[in-house]
Amino acid sequence: MSEEFRDFYTAGYSLADPSEAARMGRWRALGARGKADHVVKLLARAGMRPNTLVEIGCGDGALLAELSARGVASALDGFELSPPAAEIARERGVARRVEVFDGLDVPAEDDAYELAVVSHVLEHVPEPMSLLREAARVAPAVLIEVPLEDNRSARRDEKREEAARIGHIQFFDRAAIHSLVRVAGLTVAAELSDPLPYAHHAFFAETRGERATAAVKTLVRRAAWRALPRATERLFTVHYACLACR
Ligand SMILES: C[S@@+](CC[C@H](N)C(=O)[O-])C[C@H]1O[C@@H](n2cnc3c(N)ncnc32)[C@H](O)[C@@H]1O
Repeated sequence: MSEEFRDFYTAGYSLADPSEAARMGRWRALGARGKADHVVKLLARAGMRPNTLVEIGCGDGALLAELSARGVASALDGFELSPPAAEIARERGVARRVEVFDGLDVPAEDDAYELAVVSHVLEHVPEPMSLLREAARVAPAVLIEVPLEDNRSARRDEKREEAARIGHIQFFDRAAIHSLVRVAGLTVAAELSDPLPYAHHAFFAETRGERATAAVKTLVRRAAWRALPRATERLFTVHYACLACR
């Protein structure tokens, strides 16, 4: 992984303004609760109770902390590209081991874990297939979560600019993830999508008007998603998670 990528994610976890850093911490904690809900649901559907779990691209460890609090696995490890993020994750004290890695070769033996989690990472990497293969090498089951951004709303210029600002370089639809999973030698055992709650849509809203817009967006999207879940993926972004097994 080039220096450029590492520098980008190092800057993202090294905000100078303490109140902005705290706000982004709350944003990640909110996201982690939703992501952990997805992990718990998918594992339950597949009847899987892993003892060992690794999160590849664990960021500041917000999701590891949430998974640990819910007792999802008894031993958790994390690997991360950004040194300051890995340091925050380590300081949480929930993982046995959190290490910085090069974003390419996961520093673990084949089958070192029962479950690998790759959450909101594949859209950030130039070679998602290579990273997914690495995940499938270190664990027989891989929990993938991505935003599905190959849709009409997310293709708008301002949305693409926002996605680029936060480092998204891949724009998946469900079929693209299915194809990655298949080529990596995995099979989807369980999957779900989520149009996201009001707390997510309203998080950055500052005025009453913006909060009202977020409320309407939440209601409209949830209603459309309930009625026609697959069709709505062509219109706006939902989060998609799947448990893929060898
Ligand atoms: C949006 S954050 C997701 C963090 C965490 N997985 C979660 O779901 O809350 C994306 C993370 O992927 C990391 N990342 C980017 N490229 C990576 C790569 N090639 N390998 C592993 N992690 C990478 C970034 O440093 C960042 O921490």
